[in-house]
Amino acid sequence: MTALSPLSTETLRIGEREREYVLAVLDSQFRTSAGSSFTKRLEDLFAHTFESKYAIAFTNGTATMHAALAAAGIGPGDEVIVPPLTMASTSFAVLHAGALPVFADIDPDTWTLSPASVEERITPRTRAILPVSIYGLAPDMDGLMDIARRHNLFVLEDDAECFLGKYKGRMIGSIGDASSFSFQSSKHMTSGEGGMITTNDEQLATAIRRINSLGYAAVGAGKGKITRETIQDPLYGRHASVGYNYRMPELCAAVALAQLERLPELVERRALSARILGEAVGKAASAWLRPQAIPEGVTHSWWSYVLKLDRSDITWYDFRDRFREAGGDGIYAAWRLTYLEPAFRNGKFASHQSQLFEKGLCPVAETVQPHLLQFKTNYTDQEKVESQARILRQTIESFESQ
Ligand SMILES: Cc1ncc(COP(=O)(O)O)c(C=O)c1O
Repeated sequence: MTALSPLSTETLRIGEREREYVLAVLDSQFRTSAGSSFTKRLEDLFAHTFESKYAIAFTNGTATMHAALAAAGIGPGDEVIVPPLTMASTSFAVLHAGALPVFADIDPDTWTLSPASVEERITPRTRAILPVSIYGLAPDMDGLMDIARRHNLFVLEDDAECFLGKYKGRMIGSIGDASSFSFQSSKHMTSGEGGMITTNDEQLATAIRRINSLGYAAVGAGKGKITRETIQDPLYGRHASVGYNYRMPELCAAVALAQLERLPELVERRALSARILGEAVGKAASAWLRPQAIPEGVTHSWWSYVLKLDRSDITWYDFRDRFREAGGDGIYAAWRLTYLEPAFRNGKFASHQSQLFEKGLCPVAETVQPHLLQFKTNYTDQEKVESQARILRQTIESFESQ
């Protein structure tokens, strides 16, 4: 089996560097003039890492998407095409912007947004596509970007679960018009809560930062500077527009910067865990436990290792219970499809909404979601992953012999 590096302070999720940076913020008394601004350093390194001109730090990866959609001028009367197999924030952000989420189906093998289904859902009101790199796998970006260019649609990538994923040699987070990341505690890199938007468009970046920063006139695509003279002037017009306060706190930025500096290691550890779990699945992978299909030229970033249970005589609960009884860590289910969540079901969110959110909207997603078994990949020591892999093997064998 593949060896993970031995457990050390650096391999703990939060290590010495995170502590050091947090203490530096505290020692600065929150005066950015007293030291370097961690938010600025985080944004600069993030933009560089994700091959984008601009990166804007946020409080979380939901506010990011709200701000990006609003900055693109998307609002009431508009429609945004989203996948249903994702965390509800993808659609919540569309509603926060005042627009209507329209659900398109997923591909049966990659479980990402299907370009063919997107094309079918386009109406004269469609303004954007919001594809999700679900579990760390990029969707068919060529297909989606082609539709977007033909129909003049804005593309916002939801890459909350995809860090350092690649699509045909390009970094995920650099292909759409803007991309959103989350630093929530389960993600590849974390600051407890946090998020980031990347884009190459200066005008869009400026608009996003205004929304992020209470509409301050002084902020631009980069951070912006203001003189004491100006800020003390009683006639100074601070607010160019009405904005939100979605700024990432410095303490979170300190943790996020330390995490970003070791992101390749954090991602690699998840990839190794996924590989070890995949080896344990072995032949069952082609028979009755199907992993997410990874198209040629795409690099998965393994936020989670997910299998689709393809045996009608075994329920999701049967598998979960047997794995757990054998000492398995616990298996997560995929979120319910967003439109079947109580918050959405049969809801009417826009005056022009012609179809209610109900069963039957996305038949492929409806057959895939109930059978997904999500395994953790954020292990910090090799023994633990290997013991989980052995338990998984044992669970599979017990079903194969029955
Ligand atoms: C696919 C996806 N989109 C959006 C989010 C929202 O991010 P946040 O929790 O930072 O608001 C998450 C996770 O939390 C997610 O997994």
